[in-house]
Amino acid sequence: MTDPTPTLERWRAVDHYLTDTLVGSDAALESAIAAQNAADLPSIEVSALSGKFLNLLARLCGATRILEIGTLGAYSTIWLARALPAGGQVVTIEAEPEIAALARENLSRAGVAHLVEVVIGRGAQVLPTLVGAGPFDLVFIDADKESNTIYLDWAARLGHPGTVVVVDNVVRSGRVVTAGADDTQVQGVKAGLQMLADDPRFDATALQTLDRKGWDGIAVAVLTEDVRI
Ligand code: DHB
Ligand code: MG
Repeated sequence: MTDPTPTLERWRAVDHYLTDTLVGSDAALESAIAAQNAADLPSIEVSALSGKFLNLLARLCGATRILEIGTLGAYSTIWLARALPAGGQVVTIEAEPEIAALARENLSRAGVAHLVEVVIGRGAQVLPTLVGAGPFDLVFIDADKESNTIYLDWAARLGHPGTVVVVDNVVRSGRVVTAGADDTQVQGVKAGLQMLADDPRFDATALQTLDRKGWDGIAVAVLTEDVRI
């Protein structure tokens, strides 16, 4: 029997294999990452396979309005925008003006700038201003983990029954079960997961991922009939 331990080397090889097989190369996405690296931003964009997963989820739920919290270099934003029909829109929130400018350049280069509004500000400040811009059919939460419960609450308020909510980084190399109270990011992640379990507006699960970023995971939820629109 082969060793079932997921070694770093082997899971990276599998990630490359699946990416090469199912995603392939993509000039717009690769240049978005190159621009992000050139600006010395952290390489924490979702993997290619996860980006495509977001794209497929958006198409599966027929999303025409998508909300993203945490833009960075707009890598996931490009994947989400590509899922939209004509007339659809992604609203994406980025706290840092210089990063938002880079994101806009990347969106233009990818040919999807007309489908995306990049809003500059902290999520907690921007989200209440989006009440008239909803409802959103898919919400992707990928910003400061400490605020995950705030973001989930706004996802529910700005969504409708059936809205899909995805939360990135819910495993954090397994720290979700080992971290102490001083790890505020993991405490934020855990508070968000507990909210997904307890709050009747959500029905959720989570998937662990092993990819080029290491060991992490996403939570995926649907908004229930308990959300009011
Ligand atoms: C971090 C944040 C992310 O959104 C991510 O996907 C990976 C890492 C971080 O803050 O370390
Ligand atoms: Mg993330």
